Amino acid sequence: MANQFKIFTVIALLAGASYAFQEDDFLDGQLTLVVEDALEGGPEPVFSPRSTIHVRSVKSGNAVVTHTRQWNPELHNKLKILAEKNDFYRVRVYHKGSEERGYVSTFTRACQVYESGLSETLSMMVDSAGTWVVGVGLIPPVAVCQGEELEAIPANHNTTVIIRSPTPAPVPDTATYIEKLEAMKNEKAEGKDNRTFLAKYWMYIVPVVVIMVLSGGGQEGGR
Ligand SMILES: *[C@@H]1O[C@H](CO)[C@@H](O)[C@H](O)[C@H]1NC(C)=O
Repeated sequence: MANQFKIFTVIALLAGASYAFQEDDFLDGQLTLVVEDALEGGPEPVFSPRSTIHVRSVKSGNAVVTHTRQWNPELHNKLKILAEKNDFYRVRVYHKGSEERGYVSTFTRACQVYESGLSETLSMMVDSAGTWVVGVGLIPPVAVCQGEELEAIPANHNTTVIIRSPTPAPVPDTATYIEKLEAMKNEKAEGKDNRTFLAKYWMYIVPVVVIMVLSGGGQEGGR
């Protein structure tokens, strides 16, 4: 009976401690983006889905690209014509399932995309919360077109994704810290703290109670 109570007490304290820890956890969002491009130029380009980008972690920039459209000679010819006309290759990106909230888009010279053999770097600018893409950049490795023909048709786009966030992670956020200090001062002045007693003091309580429970057990056993 006493042993069961001891175990229960320790488990309850550990649960309280882990809850207190979670309060400080940072949420690192995931995003699923759809990339569309236009292979026919002109004033009213028609876009069609090309790739899906699954951003697993905005913070670390971990992203997986899947090309949902098979590249083929017909598409390749369209890109070649765009390049020959010195037209633009246009790309737009939206959050999957949120087309109605609009697109971010960019363009580059079609000949750069063509002569790069469909290799490209897509840079995604996300907002400070890390939940929404606010801009996109497309950088093909060929910066100056030579007017060269490709020898072979590339298998598909070869995309490197870079995630950019306006929040510089390693810089200390002094403004927020001072705000927090002010808020804590005010709370103290008003004599209240919205954290639970356990969340505030668990690091002092846990060792003391564990030692008490364990040493108490020793005495009982000795009797
Ligand atoms: C894909 O892009 C990377 C980086 O730009 C490059 O090193 C690699 O050779 C490219 N692969 C192909 C098949 O073009």
